[in-house]
Amino acid sequence: MKLGAFILLIPTTMALLGVSSVQTWLASFQQPLKDLIENPFRRSTVPQFILDARHPWILANQRKLERLPNAEAFLCSGPDPESNETGIETKNGGEGLEIPLDIFDYLEIDNNRAGISRPGWPNALERLGEINRCQRALTQAKTMEVGIYVHDGKYSDQYLKILEPPKPPEQLLTLFGDVLESMMNLETLKWDIRKEDTHIFEEAFKSRNLTLPSIKHLEPGPSSHYLVGMCPNLERLKNGGGFMWYHGYMPDNRDWGLMLIQAAVSTPKLKRFSMSGGHSGWTPSLISEVIKSMPQIESLGLFGSLGREIDYTGVNTGDTGRLKAVLDMLTGFENLTHLALPPSSSLGLGFNGGPGCGNVYFGKEGRIYLRQVTKEGAEATEEGGNIVVANLPHLASFTIGGTKANITRTEDGTIHATWPWTGRMDEWLMEEVPVGF
Ligand SMILES: *[C@@H]1O[C@H](CO)[C@@H](O)[C@H](O)[C@H]1NC(C)=O
Ligand SMILES: *[C@@H]1O[C@H](CO)[C@@H](O)[C@H](O)[C@H]1NC(C)=O
Ligand SMILES: *[C@@H]1O[C@H](CO)[C@@H](O)[C@H](O)[C@H]1NC(C)=O
Ligand SMILES: *[C@@H]1O[C@H](CO)[C@@H](O)[C@H](O)[C@H]1NC(C)=O
Repeated sequence: MKLGAFILLIPTTMALLGVSSVQTWLASFQQPLKDLIENPFRRSTVPQFILDARHPWILANQRKLERLPNAEAFLCSGPDPESNETGIETKNGGEGLEIPLDIFDYLEIDNNRAGISRPGWPNALERLGEINRCQRALTQAKTMEVGIYVHDGKYSDQYLKILEPPKPPEQLLTLFGDVLESMMNLETLKWDIRKEDTHIFEEAFKSRNLTLPSIKHLEPGPSSHYLVGMCPNLERLKNGGGFMWYHGYMPDNRDWGLMLIQAAVSTPKLKRFSMSGGHSGWTPSLISEVIKSMPQIESLGLFGSLGREIDYTGVNTGDTGRLKAVLDMLTGFENLTHLALPPSSSLGLGFNGGPGCGNVYFGKEGRIYLRQVTKEGAEATEEGGNIVVANLPHLASFTIGGTKANITRTEDGTIHATWPWTGRMDEWLMEEVPVGF
């Protein structure tokens, strides 16, 4: 019992020593953290970037892998997996471990998800260093998600704040360029670096003439539109950055939505574009920029709101004509076959979404009220759908608020859009807002 308690104390004591020595070390040399960021005692011999990717096979076999003399070498080197099409590979000394061919398909550099508590720049430097040493990861990576949260705000943990250099270290800029350039099969890149810092990467990447010809799908966050010009074979472009896309302004008030649209002029192969309108929503001038910049696209997603988001008033103000005006502009796309629109409450059709405050939906009366609001939303979606088919009859498909319309064409040439609730509204409402909700 006493011995047990003592053993339990050892890691705690050592953790404190370890952490403070790391702090001193980092503060004085601004070096990346070595092994002590997360768990100073039982650091896995499997490189952290592989654990971070959470491939189910790695999670299931982590203990076995850790018993190998050199887990990193086992996972990162080895025969070219493309030489066999069995999907698995057996190697000597691997305790019968068969490495699936897709373990490096998805990689992330992310200190900003649940369960991870690491400083942003040092974590990125560490993970990229590991990836750069792992030839198989460089060769096989198909998707990379970058999300760097810099712990320097007033809500950041003091411990992480001390470990966080205010600006990305020089080696990080070089290493990012090296790694991206080496990933010959990388198709999808999600890039979420805060808008105040991302220009530092822009300068570094531009000065080395970085081009990423394998990238087909890009999701850059605010003010990271410079990546578009580095991906000459881009087919899909979407805004990244999550809710940061709506958050704050650039010091000089430049509109990163507009800049993303204009950047697409350099990507003749672009087929799909989608973006959230941001602060002012989709204005006619923003839409005309899309038409100018990428007239060839086949799929367009207009998310956010058509025009400024209107606050709930409880009064249906009727159709503002905004949707029709937008659709009229979209006839300028010669080859558009798919359109995604925001929910009916953001289309300027009069329905403005019901009260945002959840209390009114509580209890039996609340559920009846929620069904009423849901019904009004569905009816506004129908109204919007009718305007869409009347104005863009050649569309192969479209969605409103993520719900796909069922387009039917009759022999006499009339077109109808029907919805999951068409002809069964009451039944559908009971499914959407069940009694026990
Ligand atoms: C590929 O598979 C064949 C037969 O399935 C086997 O003989 C060969 O050794 C494998 N090559 C590698 C590199 O694993
Ligand atoms: C990048 O491209 C420019 C113009 O083509 C050239 O002058 C410059 O030397 C290149 N820089 C590098 C690092 O290759
Ligand atoms: C639309 O598609 C046709 C056929 O692929 C192509 O010739 C035409 O250039 C496209 N239009 C635009 C604006 O790219
Ligand atoms: C689409 O509508 C047609 C005609 O009303 C119907 O037969 C078909 O089942 C619908 N499809 C879906 C996926 O709802």
